Amino acid sequence: MIEGYPEIGKDVSALRVTPNLVDWAGQRQTWSWDDAWAELDMPGGLINKAYECVDRHANGARANKDAIIWQSADGNIERYTYAQLKTQSNKVANAFRAMGVKKGDRVFFLSDRIPELYFAIFGCLKLGAIVAPLFSAFGPEPIRERVARAEGSVIVTTPKLLSKVNEIRAQLPSVQRVVVIAHREGKDVASEDVAYSSIVDPASEAFEIEQTRAEDWSIMHFTSGTTGLPKGAAHVHNAIVSHYATGKYVLDFHEDDIYWCTADPGWVTGTSYGIFAPFSNGVTSVIDEGGFGARRWYETIQRHKVTIWYTAPTAIRLLMKAGVELPRSHDLTSLRYVMSVGEPLNPEGVVWGQEAFDLPIHDNWWQTETGAIMCANYISMPIRPGSMGRPFPGVTVTVINEDGTEITEPMVEGQLVVKPGWPSMFRTYWNDQERYDSRFKNGWYYTGDKAKKDEDGYIWFVGRDDDVINTAGHLVSPFEVESVLIEHEAVAEAGVIGKPDEVAMEVVKAFVTLNDGFERTDALLRDLNRHARARLGPAVAPREIEIIDILPKTRSGKIMRRLLKARELGLPEGDTSTLEED
Ligand code: PRX
Repeated sequence: MIEGYPEIGKDVSALRVTPNLVDWAGQRQTWSWDDAWAELDMPGGLINKAYECVDRHANGARANKDAIIWQSADGNIERYTYAQLKTQSNKVANAFRAMGVKKGDRVFFLSDRIPELYFAIFGCLKLGAIVAPLFSAFGPEPIRERVARAEGSVIVTTPKLLSKVNEIRAQLPSVQRVVVIAHREGKDVASEDVAYSSIVDPASEAFEIEQTRAEDWSIMHFTSGTTGLPKGAAHVHNAIVSHYATGKYVLDFHEDDIYWCTADPGWVTGTSYGIFAPFSNGVTSVIDEGGFGARRWYETIQRHKVTIWYTAPTAIRLLMKAGVELPRSHDLTSLRYVMSVGEPLNPEGVVWGQEAFDLPIHDNWWQTETGAIMCANYISMPIRPGSMGRPFPGVTVTVINEDGTEITEPMVEGQLVVKPGWPSMFRTYWNDQERYDSRFKNGWYYTGDKAKKDEDGYIWFVGRDDDVINTAGHLVSPFEVESVLIEHEAVAEAGVIGKPDEVAMEVVKAFVTLNDGFERTDALLRDLNRHARARLGPAVAPREIEIIDILPKTRSGKIMRRLLKARELGLPEGDTSTLEED
């Protein structure tokens, strides 16, 4: 345990609602994924995420229950029941089918959090198309790269974001249609594009869901690696059972909960836990179009009487900075459970929750590739602040040595691995099976994280075992940033690292060397920053660029990011025996 942070005990009988999971140890012995399947429905063998999330409820007792409480950026509210979600997604499915979209096609989404985004995602899943979300703060290059890699045939976007698509459209021959959700912004749509409302409004409300099966593709999220460009981690419809079960047992969904997941559907947390887990459990979700703001967030909880809140460490650190007076001056008594994911949650954050909300914050761990939560601090279980909790009943998570043997001694650092076979496991990296295969060795899936396990099976994050940067919970590939920097005429080479940051955990920092004939001037630096932001967008562009004379490289010419980082932080340089001699 981290010194100074004793275990936070739980008195289950004092909780407002009896948790769905009270006996973790027992459940680990007896529970199986089949138990979760028994609570879902597979009419005629159909396994489809949209069916489990929408139609299953719309056809039954939850038809008139709110699925979505949508809050626009300027604070207006719209509500959509499960029945309306079914109708709207059916209309999209019909409209997109008429446009030529078919099973297996990749449909990309670049949109803010508006209701149509959710209607269209479900509509495409009903069609059997593969949903591929993009983050709205990506610049044109990350969009181009991802759409090209997956040969997307449709991009769904909004007028505000369309210019980024237009910039790269000529380089994307696979894209046949760009659908623009324009009616909310009161904008016209150019003749070469398709206005969402022009095809969806007149479409029929009846749709028979494509007969997808467990292993049919459903969604693809791009994620970052050390080498090469981001890869599309592809998931199948079967993953819904993981979302349903973790929603029930980790997020502890009950019929009357009002749930708010603050993550954007451009990232996996915003789909797995912003869409699939809550909707498959039939709860009501708050979706806020607006961005972060401490006051706005507390007002949102107060206004909608949010009971379960899933957020992220960077947001918690920002809320901590805003002080405890602010939450204390709102009525947040509806909250019964707060969770966090995406980056390490400092023990201070866990404990701060108690000060601010009278509730500790529960950290849990998973990644794009795992599709769903793998280990968690559960509502019924004592929290060890600084730990990511214990494995979910149906999964095996542990730490292993270099040679692939499990580490049995407590608190010894090793590779964090998962036993393959859980339902939401990714099934490939799109068009890169070799990379996918390289993640599985010795009978384990290697997560790329390092961790320790204590004597009671709580898992403690140590760090990543690669150069991937985690900035505010978003993974960034150094290679993706370097590739764009070297496009600039002044740049000879680039090396990109994650620099520790008090709030965002890491920020992207780039080191570049210059081509002959270029001088290190402020004007050049400004131009480099401009270039990076314009091409990559604020989600990926470096926060800092530094021009240096020489980049450390191995004798085989690989830039040693590890060394750049050690130098930046004033740390020991470690093994430099492979360093190129100058
Ligand atoms: O390094 C771990 C970190 O984020 C990575 C997964 O990021 P991504 O694929 O974008 O998935 C986001 C959905 C959670 C992990 O490999 N990470 C995630 N959760 C935690 C974490 N690091 C420490 N503590 C966590 N709770």
